[in-house]
Amino acid sequence: MCGIVGYAGIRDVVPILLEGLQRLEYRGYDSAGIAVQDHGAIHVVRSAGKIERLQDKLAGVRLPGQIGIGHTRWATHGKPTELNAHPHSDCGGNFVVIHNGIIENYSLIKRGLQERGHRFKSETDTEVIAHLLEENWDGDLVSTVRSAVSLLAGTFGLAILSAFAPETIALARRGSPLLLGIGKNEMFAASDVSAIRRHTNQVIYLEDEDLAIITPSSYEISSLQGTPVRRDQQTVEWEIASAEKQGFSHFMLKEIFEQPEAVINAMRGRVLDQDGTARLGGLDTVRDQLRATDHLIIVSCGTSYYAGLIGRYIIESHTDIAVEVELASEFRYRNLNLKQGTVVLAISQSGETADTLAAVREAKRKGVAVLGLVNAVGSTIARETVAGIYNHAGPEIGVASTKAFVSQLTILYLLALLLGRERNLSISEGKQFIAALQSIPGKISQILAESDAIRDIAERYAVFENFMFIGRKYNFPIALEGALKLKEISYLHSEGYAAGEMKHGPIALIHPQFPTVCIAPQGESYDKIISNLQEIKARSGPVLAIATHGDQEIARLADDVIYIPDIEERYSPFLTVIPLQLLAYHIANFNGREIDEPRNLAKSVTVE
Ligand code: F6R
Repeated sequence: MCGIVGYAGIRDVVPILLEGLQRLEYRGYDSAGIAVQDHGAIHVVRSAGKIERLQDKLAGVRLPGQIGIGHTRWATHGKPTELNAHPHSDCGGNFVVIHNGIIENYSLIKRGLQERGHRFKSETDTEVIAHLLEENWDGDLVSTVRSAVSLLAGTFGLAILSAFAPETIALARRGSPLLLGIGKNEMFAASDVSAIRRHTNQVIYLEDEDLAIITPSSYEISSLQGTPVRRDQQTVEWEIASAEKQGFSHFMLKEIFEQPEAVINAMRGRVLDQDGTARLGGLDTVRDQLRATDHLIIVSCGTSYYAGLIGRYIIESHTDIAVEVELASEFRYRNLNLKQGTVVLAISQSGETADTLAAVREAKRKGVAVLGLVNAVGSTIARETVAGIYNHAGPEIGVASTKAFVSQLTILYLLALLLGRERNLSISEGKQFIAALQSIPGKISQILAESDAIRDIAERYAVFENFMFIGRKYNFPIALEGALKLKEISYLHSEGYAAGEMKHGPIALIHPQFPTVCIAPQGESYDKIISNLQEIKARSGPVLAIATHGDQEIARLADDVIYIPDIEERYSPFLTVIPLQLLAYHIANFNGREIDEPRNLAKSVTVE
């Protein structure tokens, strides 16, 4: 969603801000702006639309200064216009604010400010903060920020410039991520490390209720309540190249092709071949709880939720643990039996998804152990969970999640192996399990080699406007994921269903212009899904099947087939998802969509 970048140093600030904003584009936005501090005068330039429009506005404008802040806005309060774009200022132009999050009590505050003579220029919730700073100014930026934010309800990541503190950027965090980047004679601020990774790999993640002041040569962190706090400096392990397209036409395509590596990285150092088990170091501190538990609740959203659904099948079939998978946004409405010993696992690529974070907090409040499976190192969910596992998938930039998904699957399978081996799974079964997982990267590569053939099939299907995806057991969540991938980047209507549900309603939709993608690898559920396929063909619905190499029967029944290498059914989701990602990608491309930044979507959904 919204993005923040800030710089205080010795270099010309505008190019640094613009580059930082471009690196945040993937998070989704609809307007952008910057503010530059120049000897006490603050200049603001904003525009609706893409960053190129901001660049066009800046072309030919001299904007000297070595301190500044920049923002990409994803509209919540007020349309995506230039007037609503951040930064926002007070009446006197002495305080300039950019803000991620939502101020829930802004209308009440705004009314009071207006009554006291403040003039508002935008429809945003953010603007109240600039006026509150003006009204609370007491000669010291830190205490003024404390007074102003003490009046706010809601969430914020804030970066503030003041004409009265020309060497300084003030930052404050409650519920929206913010970090500091430390350079040589320069300091950075950002909501996401990718905005500043080019300049430094040394970062400090701010925590909720932190207030930081940065100057070119220093930083100071205290709490919003006034006590000093210490935060550790950390090293970012990924290189900037992994946040670049490297010759691919889109980040999504690059990330699809990075999936063999994503599986390898998720397994690296985590497999104990001799013992036929897994070692997940991040869970060592909760080992006893995991050994004893018979109830696991997975909470997550979107694609991470679908990974959790597959996790349920694999954990339940290798342990005696009952696994529930709950949409994080619904978790609070359930009165789940969180008995002593229940373990909650939050899955989130970004580690910042507001609904998942709220579920984490609610589960913690109920007193159970909450674990995290997170890709973004240092993210809020990673920090707020008692123990966890990192994906090590590197930054995922395309809005549509791909490599994070297979990475999540890998770790869920390792978790099933670990939990299984601590129960009844034998060493030889454990070794077979590991061998199967180790074969997956090579098999994914074989499917990726067929990308051109899949593109040719996609071209024929790109003319349709409605799609059905069906699968059973392990591949039921893959049907949901295939439908989500297609709808989010192509804007075509697509529905995922458990194949067994077709007769209970959805089959009414089937007609010659409504194709079904039928996920039918060899295995226990094969015969049943073939029956579903035949029911669709009997109603003249086109069928594209995803099937196992050598399956001649399906070639006779379906209109088109994409083959995956032979693999036991329980591991098949790692493979069946790949053609569906490519299908979605190529269909969206044929339809001329903005694949990496689809309309209305944000990479990290930080509002509930
Ligand atoms: C779909 C997609 C989203 C995310 C969801 C959760 O391609 O990316 O559905 O999976 O917003 O995000 P995280 O995993 O960051 O919590």
